[in-house]
Amino acid sequence: MPAQRKLFVTTALPYANGNFHIGHIMEYIQADIWVRHQRMQGSQVHFVCADDAHGAPIMIAAEKAGKSPQQFVADIAAGRKPYLDGFHIAFDNWHSTDAPENHELAQQIYRDLNANGLISSKVIEQFFDPAKNMFLPDRFIKGECPNCHSKDQYGDNCEVCSKVYSPTDLINPYSALSGATPVLKSSEHFFFKLSDPRCMAFLKEWTRGEGRLQTEVLNKISEWLEPGEDGKAVLGDWDISRDAPYFGIEIPDAPGKYFYVWLDAPVGYLASLKNYFDKGGAQTAGESMSYDQFAADPDVEQYHFIGKDIITFHTLFWPAMLHFSGRKVPDKVFVHGFLTVNNGEKMSKSRGTGLDPLKYLSLGMNPEWLRYYLAAKLSGRNEDIDFNPDDFMARVNSDLVGKYINIASRAVKFVPGGKLAATHAEPGAQALVENVRALYEARDYGRALREIMAYADKVNLRFDTAAPWKLVKEGKAAEAAAVCSMCLESFKVMTACLKPVMPALAAQAEAFLQCAPLDWSTAAAPMGEGHAVGVYKHLMQRVEEKQLDALFEPPAPAAPQQIVPGGEELAPTISIDDFAKIDLRIARIVNCEAVEGSTKLLRLTLDVGEGRMRNVFSGIASAYQPAELVGKLTVMVANLAPRKMKFGLSEGMVLAASHGDEKANSGIYVLNPWPGAQPGMRVR
Ligand code: 2FM
Ligand code: ZN
Repeated sequence: MPAQRKLFVTTALPYANGNFHIGHIMEYIQADIWVRHQRMQGSQVHFVCADDAHGAPIMIAAEKAGKSPQQFVADIAAGRKPYLDGFHIAFDNWHSTDAPENHELAQQIYRDLNANGLISSKVIEQFFDPAKNMFLPDRFIKGECPNCHSKDQYGDNCEVCSKVYSPTDLINPYSALSGATPVLKSSEHFFFKLSDPRCMAFLKEWTRGEGRLQTEVLNKISEWLEPGEDGKAVLGDWDISRDAPYFGIEIPDAPGKYFYVWLDAPVGYLASLKNYFDKGGAQTAGESMSYDQFAADPDVEQYHFIGKDIITFHTLFWPAMLHFSGRKVPDKVFVHGFLTVNNGEKMSKSRGTGLDPLKYLSLGMNPEWLRYYLAAKLSGRNEDIDFNPDDFMARVNSDLVGKYINIASRAVKFVPGGKLAATHAEPGAQALVENVRALYEARDYGRALREIMAYADKVNLRFDTAAPWKLVKEGKAAEAAAVCSMCLESFKVMTACLKPVMPALAAQAEAFLQCAPLDWSTAAAPMGEGHAVGVYKHLMQRVEEKQLDALFEPPAPAAPQQIVPGGEELAPTISIDDFAKIDLRIARIVNCEAVEGSTKLLRLTLDVGEGRMRNVFSGIASAYQPAELVGKLTVMVANLAPRKMKFGLSEGMVLAASHGDEKANSGIYVLNPWPGAQPGMRVR
């Protein structure tokens, strides 16, 4: 038995300036599947992530939102859980790069790099916004393209002619923040000396380590590791400082200087891990080491899942930061491509293009459909994949439900009492398990699922060929039970194989099979003769076309074109709990009279079934004669705090419909329940 592997796994830290989109969810699902597979083979895994909180764009967005940057990122963080729980993404810890652990670790790494002679400083000239009193990041400088003369182009490249230039090349530059004309101003910046020959030597060796990087990734970054035509290193020194005001981590001994966000972002991997250890989470999960021991342990394997847009940060800067600060380096960086939806097609009339993960969940769509579909599309390579609704429906309905789920539901009917006859799974189970396990390890989930489905085809063929329903009619019930027991054994094998992708479904299937939680060591072992499976309850619905239509239905156009009911803006969304706070009751209007001295109000005497009457003033005098209302039922807010008015105490409020705009003069309509409602009934 090989020693237990110890793994530290991360996904890229998302910027805390917006909710997750489907691309984040894909990456998390990819990593979560791998982590679950590792745990099925007994590896001890710590799987962490955090919000990437710092940087100028977040600082500016917070200012726009009228919040402190801390509050701004805290509000974003508060919205993470429904996505993660909803898609069964089981990070062990979620933290923030603005947390104290990250401040300390980033500063320590910087000190260590400095002590190693790898930090330099020099004065550089940059655009400065005199109105905002700050240096402008490239993307906040705009102007006329020096090449094609298109107006309003960004400081680093032109969106019209694609020319790449530096902000100082722009014609008539202006600040996108204030509109002011930026001025050139010089300031001291700190650099990580990546051009140092030691860095080049280390990175050459590290990037070419056995299995370290995918071939296509290594090819992509190799240009940085070969000397240029002049024989000099192509990897220049990396500017790691920014001047105040900046939302970030202060550089030690350099007042007014902050780390550039990309310096402290990956340190957040360690900060989240440390936070997890320090608060006892890792220990609860069976870890015996402290953070410091774990971080220094040569046997610990460190893996980062990332997208192809951030390769250089993770395969050059980050390993160099770790190595030259005397720390352990990552073992592998796993790069995935982008996810497009509908081939990145422009909005179609019937179906939009975006796939909003929360909308998906709120439509009641099964999160494991998406996990299955994305897994079916993923290989271990850095390739883009596409979400196609028709393909999604076909894969889930014909493969997952049609081939896998159906075996259980069809076979169990012919196994009396669920008691398995002497049998084994469809031949090839052991080989399937080994093969699939290796494919998960290589992150080739698509092939793993194809292997499982090919096996499912064999099992279905066996079932159809044996035709147990006929066997039973022919009085061969025992034969039918034998074949169907075999199908159930096979279903168990497939359940284990699908478990990393569909953990919730596997748990339900295990409950049905009445077997212990499956892992790779038990995946192929037969449940055996006499084992009784439970009562079958349907395990998974099919995807319906109308769900996909709803998912991709373009969102209503934004205000001001938005058509709002009655011309009045909808109030902000509330939760069901918010609504439950309002106690609405059916009330009988026992008496109603005009209020002397008021043209607006009527005095209502209401019976809400409490054994006493309530006095309520209501502004409906313009719409009703008192006599019209006596004896009628209506709806009232029964738990509104009593309010003292000029004419007496009002103990509640009756509900009435009207246009918000009084000038519309379209009337007031008191609510009246359908016949049968009784005073005191709650309205919910
Ligand atoms: O590209 C991004 O979304 C970055 N926030 C990723 C950071 S990954 C790590 F370095 F923190
Ligand atoms: Zn241009």
